[in-house]
Amino acid sequence: MKVTVSRRGHFNAAHRLYVKDWSEEKNSNVFGKCNNPNFHGHNYELIVDVKGSVDKVTGMVIDLKDLKDLITNEVEDLLDHKNLNLDISYFEKVLPTAENICIFIWDILRKKISKDKELSVTLYETPRNFVKYSGN
Ligand code: NI
Repeated sequence: MKVTVSRRGHFNAAHRLYVKDWSEEKNSNVFGKCNNPNFHGHNYELIVDVKGSVDKVTGMVIDLKDLKDLITNEVEDLLDHKNLNLDISYFEKVLPTAENICIFIWDILRKKISKDKELSVTLYETPRNFVKYSGN
């Protein structure tokens, strides 16, 4: 019997989406406003889902306080108020699209959450645009 426990997180960050080898026109066509040369910000929302068995003693899948601290310390403190392209070395070679940011966050949290639990991360770039990654 498995239950999913979820915690919401938030960070503000700037990015620019562009492919160096492409013309300005092609970058603009593909990435639209996200190609703005002077960067722009998003209010990112994330939902972290941890699925696992309910511990017989604690009655918990994961202590939500621990999950909260993980999201704060490992994700929000790292990304909040940052320029993803310039401040986060991972995004020097990887485009900071919602997809890639979601994978980046999942990889960080996966290392910190015990392997007997399943992990999914949903990342909202806007209230209507969001992506989800579960590790495969
Ligand atoms: Ni954007």
